[in-house]
Amino acid sequence: MSDSADINLAVAALRAGELVAFPTETVYGLGADASNAAAIRRIYAVKGRPSSHPLIVHLSSTTDIDAWAATIPKNARALAERFWPGPLTLVLPRASHVLMELTGGQASVALRVPEHPVAQQLLRGFGGGIAAPSANRYGRVSPTTAQHVRDEFGDEVAIVLEGGACRVGLESTIVSCLSEQALLLRPGGISQQDLEAVIGPVRRAAQGEGPRTPGSTQAHYAPLTPLTLVTDALLAQYAQESDVAVLAMRPQSAAFCGVLWLNGSPSAETFGHHLYANLRTLDRAGARRILVEAPPLTQAWDAVRDRLTRAACGSAESA
Ligand code: TXA
Ligand code: MG
Repeated sequence: MSDSADINLAVAALRAGELVAFPTETVYGLGADASNAAAIRRIYAVKGRPSSHPLIVHLSSTTDIDAWAATIPKNARALAERFWPGPLTLVLPRASHVLMELTGGQASVALRVPEHPVAQQLLRGFGGGIAAPSANRYGRVSPTTAQHVRDEFGDEVAIVLEGGACRVGLESTIVSCLSEQALLLRPGGISQQDLEAVIGPVRRAAQGEGPRTPGSTQAHYAPLTPLTLVTDALLAQYAQESDVAVLAMRPQSAAFCGVLWLNGSPSAETFGHHLYANLRTLDRAGARRILVEAPPLTQAWDAVRDRLTRAACGSAESA
């Protein structure tokens, strides 16, 4: 775990307009001073992300949102009070000073108060907003350990704070509060049911609806090896092929002839916690393709199902 000397170095780097990778309870972020346009442009350059895709601003406490949002609707306030600090991002009307580089030119801004102690120390030490996407190249699997970030960026990101394996392991739940009824843009560790318990009915955004979200287009969260989602019946059939690597919700079947079988757990929470590390392991296994057992259609699996469906986008044989 990074100590206060590491945090001080990271704060100095942020003040100098440099990038700092840091842990949150969802995934590791690639952070820059959210008030420094040049620093924000470096994020896009390093990630290889189109500049029209907006970033999340991380804040140390709920009281800071007043400085970043023009108005805070009642439902947003209620969600913030219930779930912050935590794995929730709120999309709100942006305050006038919020940089275009952050918002992709949109009239809204995405805000999040993370709970991870290292993220909290960094935010408090810095004293301002930290803009941060997940610390991976555009379209690739998000990092859930500091080593994943180093593997991906090497010397390009000089400071990577250490915070262990991320508790949730999937990106934050994103809720837009721009219109009266809240809109769920990206499912995450906080479920639709959790949200609805606080503010009543929440609508799930349809594909392509709502503000632009890069996670909602084309292949995303994707390993390099083609990934196919399969039913358990198909899994049993494909398991007899020698060049496959498998992620299932059960122990290895006796008939398995492939290169690697990972049991991702029958619990959605545990499966999600290990998902990205498992995808990296499967990607390195030397298989011709990755087979993933399709998750159940229940709400508990929403976030996992969302990421796996996008990861499978690039492969023609998704079943
Ligand atoms: O858990 C997370 O959310 C992580 C950690 C580091 O906080 N961050 C993350 O960032 O996943 P990124 O950039 O990989 O995904 C942020 C998502 C994108 O889909 C982006 O389009 C959406 O947030 N977003 C940002 N600003 C938005 C806005 N104003 N309106 C709608 N969506 C927005
Ligand atoms: Mg991302």
